[in-house]
Amino acid sequence: MSAGVPEKRFVIAIDGPAASGKSSTAQWVARRLAFHHVDSGALYRAATAVQLDAHTDPERWAEDEILAATGRIGFVPDNGAFVPLIDGVSADEVLRGVEVTRNVSRVARMPRVRAWVNAQVRRASESHSVVVDGRDIGTVVFPNADLKVFLIADPWERARRRLVQRLGRSPSDAEIAEETDLIVHRDAKDATQTVQASDAVLIDTTYLTQEDQVERIVALAKAVTHRADETSAG
Ligand code: CDP
Repeated sequence: MSAGVPEKRFVIAIDGPAASGKSSTAQWVARRLAFHHVDSGALYRAATAVQLDAHTDPERWAEDEILAATGRIGFVPDNGAFVPLIDGVSADEVLRGVEVTRNVSRVARMPRVRAWVNAQVRRASESHSVVVDGRDIGTVVFPNADLKVFLIADPWERARRRLVQRLGRSPSDAEIAEETDLIVHRDAKDATQTVQASDAVLIDTTYLTQEDQVERIVALAKAVTHRADETSAG
């Protein structure tokens, strides 16, 4: 690469429904490729968390009020990932908590909140090659992403994985059933913004290990780079 020519930034978009393993897969893929991980869902969660601090009835939340509250949120690179900070502090546990999860879909339906999230995500990709996960990354946020992947898995298996992650043990069938119910309802609430791009590679992870799905995406990324090198060589 000649001096003064900026190196091309690479964008991998990973979309899919609730608890399909997008975030952890995106994190691993980013680490393998030395890219930055950008979790767009974490920004919707942060917007929900700052609004929850107002202790008002979620049914009456107004978009202007939420947008004003997002002023408390920063989005900064830290150790290979962009992380949302609230008042300058990491708030990971709150973001993954029940109250935020229960209310995030209503916030994510607001068009100006979506525009705010998309601006943060695009800004992150200006300075780094990125693996971005969400619902509409390959369709709305980065329609020209270098690689698009859409992850799906059986709802029961998604619920089981989420509980193992949260509880650190094998959940009972009754616990999985309850979580499955929550997940399919969140899928329904998020349906309009969860879109598979026509040029996305669909990966069903129901019977794959996390390692397998990461390897597949890394292999796909290498294939795309190879094709791009061949094209530029002539
Ligand atoms: O991983 P999980 O499915 O639990 O959710 P997430 O990626 O943390 O996203 C939380 C919520 O943000 C979702 O339920 C959607 O309502 C919303 N979201 C969205 O609308 N668009 C995105 N690109 C990412 C998340």
